[in-house]
Amino acid sequence: MTTVAPKNFWYVAAFAEDIGRALVARTILNQALVMFRTEEGSVAILEDRCPHRAVPLSLGRLIGDDIRCNYHGMQIRADGSCSRIPCQDLIPEKARARTYPVVERHKLIWVWMGNSDLADPATVPDFHWFDDPAWTTCHGYHHVNANYQLLNDNLLDLSHESYVHEDTIGNDAVAEAPVTSKVVDGKVYVSREIVNCEPPPFYVKTTGFTTNINRWHTTIFQPPSFNVIENGSYPHHASRSEALERRILNMITPETDTSSHYFWGVARAFLHDDAALTSYIREKIYHTFDQDKVLLEAQQRNLGKETNAPFPVALRTDVGPIQARKLVKQILDREQSEAA
Ligand code: FES
Ligand SMILES: [Fe+2]
Repeated sequence: MTTVAPKNFWYVAAFAEDIGRALVARTILNQALVMFRTEEGSVAILEDRCPHRAVPLSLGRLIGDDIRCNYHGMQIRADGSCSRIPCQDLIPEKARARTYPVVERHKLIWVWMGNSDLADPATVPDFHWFDDPAWTTCHGYHHVNANYQLLNDNLLDLSHESYVHEDTIGNDAVAEAPVTSKVVDGKVYVSREIVNCEPPPFYVKTTGFTTNINRWHTTIFQPPSFNVIENGSYPHHASRSEALERRILNMITPETDTSSHYFWGVARAFLHDDAALTSYIREKIYHTFDQDKVLLEAQQRNLGKETNAPFPVALRTDVGPIQARKLVKQILDREQSEAA
């Protein structure tokens, strides 16, 4: 059982399009899960462990809406109960797999790993951009061998764009721009206004701006691991109302104490019909997040198991990450004292 990530939250288990009539295995919060879509179209998520001899159910096959274990043929329904045992009529009470609450919303499959009684669909984080016609999106996934809080830190301190992403979204102006951070209603807001700077390569290509621009980003952190970056840019001598706006959608799901599922999307509010632009953005952001992955995994290797140990040096730009970690720690402490 995990000790580093809050349990009583909705986490993204998959993009909805990736769950169909095939068994998908994925570990979330140190728990091995198997997911599939039933014949009538809802998504089921179960513990990936046969109640008989602990073989992963994901190695089995779907018979209608039952998973047939590929070892001795026991069949488990989507609700976790056992429907059939070869050559015996008696179904033991304990022949049952744990199931998890699921919500499908905004083209995402959300799972609740904690106390099922607390799983309120109204508390699924808002990622409406994925199915809002006012926005055009692309999306992707990275598996990152790093603790989820290192990914939060990364998204809450975008000064790294200047050094990690200088071939796409960054240049010196980002790290030099002043940063503000505040906590409002349990969320952290970290903002940068970058005035009269050269457009980095990704901006030139996606916006067409070639002269100096003003750009801003605000990372909005919602515990424990959701980060929406509001971003806009416009020519320096134009007015802000002419800005082209994007939202970078970051949904991080702890896999183990030292690894994460990084589901991401980029939404834009301009040039909706330009499919080539959508492909370009996806390709470049994929590459950009590959760059983060290299650093984050190296950072995790240096940290070893000490994922929550305090860092010895704090810079001005660490205010947001520190505020976010405080919020997560409060939640972890609360969950721990409730469990005790
Ligand atoms: S381990 Fe699954 S039926 Fe025996
Ligand atoms: Fe980055």
